[in-house]
Formats: sequence, C-alpha cells, structure tokens
Amino acid sequence: MKLGVPAESAKDEARVAATPETVKKFIALGFKVSVQAGAGERSRILDKAYSDAGATIAKSADAVVKDADVVIKVRRPSAEEAAGYKKGALVIGIMDVWDDAKAFGAIAKTGVSAMAMELMPRITRAQVMDVLSSQANLAGYRAVIDAAEVFDRAMPMMMTAAGTVSPAKVFVMGAGVAGLQAIATARRLGGMVTATDVRPAAKEQVASLGAKFVAVEDEEFKQAETAAGYAKEMSDAYKKKQAELVASHIAKQDIVITTALIPGRPAPVLVSKEMVESMAPGSVIVDLAVERGGNCPLSKPGRVIDHKGVRIIGYTNVAGRVAASASGLYARNLYALIETLVDGEAKKLAVDPEDEIVKAITLTSGGKCVHPLLDAANGGKA
Ligand code: NAI
Repeated sequence: MKLGVPAESAKDEARVAATPETVKKFIALGFKVSVQAGAGERSRILDKAYSDAGATIAKSADAVVKDADVVIKVRRPSAEEAAGYKKGALVIGIMDVWDDAKAFGAIAKTGVSAMAMELMPRITRAQVMDVLSSQANLAGYRAVIDAAEVFDRAMPMMMTAAGTVSPAKVFVMGAGVAGLQAIATARRLGGMVTATDVRPAAKEQVASLGAKFVAVEDEEFKQAETAAGYAKEMSDAYKKKQAELVASHIAKQDIVITTALIPGRPAPVLVSKEMVESMAPGSVIVDLAVERGGNCPLSKPGRVIDHKGVRIIGYTNVAGRVAASASGLYARNLYALIETLVDGEAKKLAVDPEDEIVKAITLTSGGKCVHPLLDAANGGKA
C-alpha cells in the first residue's frame, strides 16, 4: 500500500495532512509513505523529520501521487490534480462540500474515491476523526488572540498604583466547539465573558466555563437541536426576539466573537450594521463564519475592516493561522480514519462500503458522485 502526501496547492493553506508521528504509524500499518518536498514547511515540519520517520521525499507532486493508493490532503484537489492520481485511489481531505458541491462531477470523472473529512458523523467511534472539532477548537482559540491583537486595551482587570484597568467585555455568539474554546481562551486572558446559542445544551456548557448565558429561552429554544447535535434554522419570530435581546447587550461589549453555523445553510446574520454602529469605537468583532456568508454582513473574507472605529476581523482558514497545532490534530484525525480502512493482517486496503463512516463521507466512487448531498448539484451523475 502506498500513501502520498502532496504539498497543498492553495497559497493560503499552511497546514499539512501528515506529521512525522503519523508517518511512523502509517508505516507500521503497512504503508510506504511518500511526502512532497517542502509539504510541511509552513507547519514547521522539515523534510528531514519526515525522512527520519521513514518517508521518502519526492521532488514533485506528481511523483508523490501517481501510484499512491491513498492520497491525503488538507484541501480538496482540483480536477486537474485528481486527474494525475491513480484511478481508484482514495483521496481524503476537507472537501468543502457545502461551498462548492458542483466541483465533484469533474473529480468523479477522474475515477478517484474522494472522502470528505468534514462529513464525519458525530458518533462516538468517529470522535477521534472529527476534523470539524479539531480545527474549530483551534479557530476559537485563535479568534480571541486575533481580537486581542487589534484591541487597543488590556483584556484582564489590572489594579495598579495609577488606577484600575477594567476587564474587556467579551461576547461569544455560537457556543459550539469554536465558541466554547473562545470562551475558555477569553476567560484565561481575563475577559468578562458572556455567550449565546440557540441550542439549549449550550447553556450548561457555557456556565461550566464560567461565562454567563444570554438567550431567549422559549419553547422553540427548547427544541432547537437536531439529533446530530447541530443547530436548526430558527423561525423569523425567534430571530427577532433574540436580536432584540442581543442588540442591547452588544452595545456594551468590547469584543464580539461570532461562530454561529448551521450545516448546509448560509450562516445566520446575528450582528447587524446597526448593532456594529452601537458599539464604542475601539471595539472588535471577529466573524469566524465569514467563509459561509458571515454572522455580520459587514465582515469581508480575508480582511480586517474598520467601520466607524469598530474593527471587524474576517480572516479565513483561522485554524490554519495556528498551522503547526492544526496539522498535528488533523493528521491524527486522518490516521484514525485510515486505520479503519486497512486490513491490518493482510496489510491491504479493505474499505467496507456499507460501513456507517465510509457511507457518510464518500463523495465519489467508480467514476460517479455517490453522496446524496451531491445529487442536487450534479443530478447524481458525474
Ligand atoms: P457548528 O460549527 O455547526 O455551529 C457553531 C454553533 O453555532 C453551534 O453551537 C450552533 O448551535 C450555533 N448557532 C447556530 N445558529 C445560531 C444562532 N442563530 N444563534 C446563536 N448560535 C447559533 O457546531 P459545532 O461547533 O460543530 O458543534 C455543535 C454541537 O455538536 C456541539 O454541542 C458540540 O459539542 C457537539 N459535538 C459533538 C460531537 C460528537 O462526536 N458527539 C463532536 C463535536 C461536537
């Protein structure tokens, strides 16, 4: 079995899909591992560390992928890249299914089996493979660091001989994986933290981190969680009540971090232009949902904008801004999945198409788009 790790082709992608630790494990599993020269550089992993772990270093992407049975990536390959892969190869990465489902028709035609890590079901067995969690956790952390960097005041309360510096008021909107880590990080930096979410389960989690929960807790709120643990789209009436409650709260905040997402739908708008304008100059908003349309209509992907003195941070790929840590966790997510796709005794790939995880994440196979999510985009045909 051969496993290839090409360097990421996207310019803004500093993460890498394998680390020396996982290379060693893949070799123990029976793989020959080939890594493209420089693939780990932006995650601070040098070629020598990969070769010390037992990988072969190849100069070109082509040499890494052309006879690999499994290609691991951070981002989805382009159809041109996939055309250079071995027919039938497993290609595993974060495939951006929600954002560009149409792209998979061309990828399917190349004959590869593409698997999307972000579609991992939230079942106990797959927790170790849950890339949304591993990356969102780091994004939540980094969002607070990014906010602190542009905030002109100190975050913690400081009692000095010259007087007291008051603590920053931080409001986290969306208390999922990213939001909870943002709460924990802002608390560690000494901020006074409040948070909101539409899922009732979030209330207790927010409180357990020492933050105060702010939300309209009506009947709809009590039903607002899907069986998979995700948020539902809320009714217009709920959104209006919640917006009114939040509006007066936001006006008093120094830092607002938004992380609210609904799988497969545009991000809900939570911080309107009027709310931004109600904040004092010097306040900071970080919109972690910017790539999915944004929780704030003023945020711009990849940019920090200044709206009447309020800075709005819209960095994309925020986990990639902590690349070395993000790569380390992502590489482990990938290894945990691939380990289940291998027959350890025969040292052969043994992908069971009926397995719950395999079914949930396989997008293309045998030249066709096979995932129900892609049906609408591609008419079920490659
Ligand atoms: P996500 O990234 O889809 O959304 C982020 C947060 O935004 C969620 O908490 C969601 O409820 C919230 N949100 C959506 N619309 C909102 C609105 N209008 N106002 C305020 N907040 C809104 O969700 P994420 O972070 O992936 O986690 C969702 C849940 O799944 C969490 O409870 C998490 O603990 C759980 N989970 C379960 C796992 C498992 O394996 N069982 C693994 C990872 C997470």
